[in-house]
Parts: sequence; C-alpha cells; structure tokens
Amino acid sequence: MLVIFGASGDLTRRKLIPALYDLYVKELLPAGFAVVGASRTPFSDEEFRENMRTFLPGTEKTDLFSKMLHYLPFDPEKEEDYHLLRKRLADLGQEKQTGGNLIFYLSTPPSLYGIIPARLHAAGLSRSDRGFRRLIVEKPFGTSLHSARELNVNLLHYFDEEQIFRIDHYLGKETVQNMLVTRFSNGIFEPLWNRNFIHHVEITSAETLGVEGRGGYYDQSGALRDMIQNHLLQLTGFIAMEPPAVLGADAIRNETLKVFQALRPLREEETATMAVRGQYLSSLIRGEKIAGYREEKGVNPSSRTETYAALKFYIDNWRWAGVPFYLRTGKKLPARVTEAVVHFRHVPHHLFSGIPGYQPVSNQLVIRIQPDEGILLKMGMKEPGAGFHVKTVNMDFHYSDLAGITLPSAYERLLLDCMQGDATLFSRGDAVEEAWKFVQPILDAWENNPHIPVYGYPAGTWGPQAADDLMEEGPWRFPCKNLTDDGTYCEL
Ligand code: BG6
Repeated sequence: MLVIFGASGDLTRRKLIPALYDLYVKELLPAGFAVVGASRTPFSDEEFRENMRTFLPGTEKTDLFSKMLHYLPFDPEKEEDYHLLRKRLADLGQEKQTGGNLIFYLSTPPSLYGIIPARLHAAGLSRSDRGFRRLIVEKPFGTSLHSARELNVNLLHYFDEEQIFRIDHYLGKETVQNMLVTRFSNGIFEPLWNRNFIHHVEITSAETLGVEGRGGYYDQSGALRDMIQNHLLQLTGFIAMEPPAVLGADAIRNETLKVFQALRPLREEETATMAVRGQYLSSLIRGEKIAGYREEKGVNPSSRTETYAALKFYIDNWRWAGVPFYLRTGKKLPARVTEAVVHFRHVPHHLFSGIPGYQPVSNQLVIRIQPDEGILLKMGMKEPGAGFHVKTVNMDFHYSDLAGITLPSAYERLLLDCMQGDATLFSRGDAVEEAWKFVQPILDAWENNPHIPVYGYPAGTWGPQAADDLMEEGPWRFPCKNLTDDGTYCEL
C-alpha cells in the first residue's frame, strides 16, 4: 500500500498517479495493491479518483486502475488523524491483501517532513515487522547544509537509512542510468575516461519554462538549490565515479559519495569568477511579450533569486585532477535540453595542419538526457576528393530508433524500485549532505556579497554573457531539440 501525504498537490496528479497507471498497464504492480491519498482537502474516494483522472487516458483500464485509489482527509499536525490512518490502512490492507507492506510518500510542503515521520513512528507505523515500512522523501531535501543535516538526523530517529528513499527524479531517467551502462559495459570509453584524455566536461540543463505558478517556492530557492545541488551534481557523480565493483545500491552510492567528497569547494573570493548567476528579464518572443521573473506571481518584485546558474569547478582526485567541469542550468532559455558533453583532448601532433582551412577536431561525446534521448560522438573524417581535408562528422544513436520501446517515466522506475526495496537510484543521506557542503559556500558568498552581480538575461536567450566568459576552453555547446543539431541557429 502506497500512502501519499500531500495527495491533493500537483505532483500526485501530474507524476505519481500516471506513473502508477503505467506500471499497472504493464502489469508490474503487485497483485495486492492500493493507494491511499492523505491530505487536508476533504475529498471522498470518488472525488479523489475523479481528480486524479485528469492526467490519465480515458480507457477501460483507467476505470479498473481508479478502483485502487482511496482517500483519507488528513491533517498531518493532528495526532488523532494518525490513529484514523492506522485503522484505515489495517482495514484496506486486509481487504486488498497487501501483506502489511507500507510505503509512505512525503509529497507535502517540506515544513512537514519533521512532523510526519515522528507521528508515524508514534502511531507504530514505522517499524518493519509484519511487512516492510519505507519512506519516500520528495525534494527539496533541506534548503541549506544545516537544514539537510537536521532533516537527516530527524528522519533517522524514526526510520533506518535502509527504509529511507530520497527522491532525485533525475536518477530515475533512463538516459541517466544509461551513463553507467555506456561507461561500464563498453571497453572503449573507460581507458580514455580520465585527465589524460579528457579536456573538460560540460553539463547543461536548460528549460524553456519559467516558474509556472511556483513563484512562492522558487523565490526562496533559486537555480543552485533547485537544480544543481541535487540533479546536476548527481549527473556529475555518474560521469565522474570510479567503476563500482558490483551492481548494488551501496556499491554505486559509495562511488557517488566519493566524487562529492572530492569536489573542490569554491572559496568565497572565487565565487565571483567561477560562478555566475542570472535572472530572466521580460522580452518579446515572436512578437509576444514574455514577463520577466520579477513580474511572476509569488515573486518579490526586487528579488535577487537566480533563475540561471553556471559553475566551473574541479574534482580533486587522481582521475580528474586539473580537468574543469562546467555546469549550467536556467529557466526561460531557448530550448529544453539536458545533456552532458565530454570534450576529449586534441591530437598531440596536427598532421593535417598545413592543409588550408584545417581546424583541429574536437572529439566530443554528447550524452543526451532529454529530449531526443541518445548518444552522439563527434569525430574527424576525410572529406571525399583531392587532398586531406578534415571534416567533423556525427555518429549518433537515438533511443527513438529502438522500435516498439517507450522510455518509462522517472517516477515509474523509482516507485517500482522502492516497492522492490532497491535504493540504487535514490540519494543516500551522506551524499546529500556532501553535495550541500559543496553548494553552501556559493550560496553564502552570493548572500553576503551583494556586489556579486545577478546578471539579467532576456527570456528566450542562452543566459548572461558572463556565463560564456566563464567557459575558458571554448564556447558552450548550444544544443537544439535534435541531438545532432548544434551551433548558433536551430529550430526551437
Ligand atoms: C524539478 C525542479 O526538480 O526539476 C523544477 O524543481 C524543474 O524547477 C524540474 O523544472 C525539471 O525536471 P525535468 O524532468 O523536467 O527536467
């Protein structure tokens, strides 16, 4: 039985219920299964089902699936409500034969992350004795190093680490997991995957959307907390980790942790030159006026919260010493694209340099997370005809070429893994804290030094010029919707 706290929120309707529906259609849900939505809104079971159907297809299967959904009006601050919850879970568990297995999903405002686990524990619902008890914690996991530590301490009072599943939905993305398969199932990449052959690494996560009605939350957060502390550092972990010895939750998460431990923190005085923050300004896109960030609902009209952030940093270990890593993310950029680009070093001797028009080839491996999921290798080839003209060409694989395969959503994978007790794709407490340790000095520097600019960038552009200047090793790749297109102009 999956109990969702905060079930009347957007995440449940948009992501969790559709993911469960897909699992149901693929017959991956256990025979005895039920969902209990618990939040303050006074829905009946029927009203809850109706509400959840807004993001489901109108099929016969949807009718059958909806019958698995139940609802309990619930005030997380009221002790009595936990007794009602326990009773309801016991009755439904009997009826649906769920074997006493319970997963609690915290999808409430984070201010309740302290109280719900404590009350569940007090109501005797946290101990795995008859059946398992697991707790899924949605992001944000803390808003600072201090609050993340406090949250860990609090959760560990009531649940064991093995019972806690901290969601980072990027780890649920098929193409993020494919990084491990690309690196560790092929013999050809790993020997090159180090400072001797890699010149620099760049990771971009660009969004065309703005804050979309989440101004209140976002204005307290900003791009560094919202995307870099979690999603982009996790991607960095997968790109930079040492090969794990076995495929297991702890083996893999130990390696990610080691990467985070090796991140060289930016000193306060470096923040002005190695980190760039920006905020989108109003602009005209195809004749339509787009509001600037400060005009968004819920945002302070003189806000200095960043909607764009770019960083340069180093990983101090044998594999990566001296290799710059670049991360950037932003809202209201020209394309919705997430990808990592590994730039390999140039050849040591330029045999063709005497040929007119010669440009050294930059071998790049582009790992596209979304959209047009796939992999692209850029390499030099001879242009047919006289002489030895070198041309850079693309070798590409697109997931869409795999006939009959649809990529499961991140939440689908993560919910199923949690039901199966596999925590590989969930963040471990120590790694979350270590990621905060890296990010916190940047947040502090930005807060304490108002002279570090918050650069404006017009909505629909690639962020501030200062971020281009940050990248010393050549321009960022300006990716397009299609993996194989890049450059300065593309269809958006
Ligand atoms: C969320 C952030 O974690 O990730 C959002 O809070 C962001 O601000 C979203 O839009 C991006 O996720 P995706 O899967 O659309 O890349």
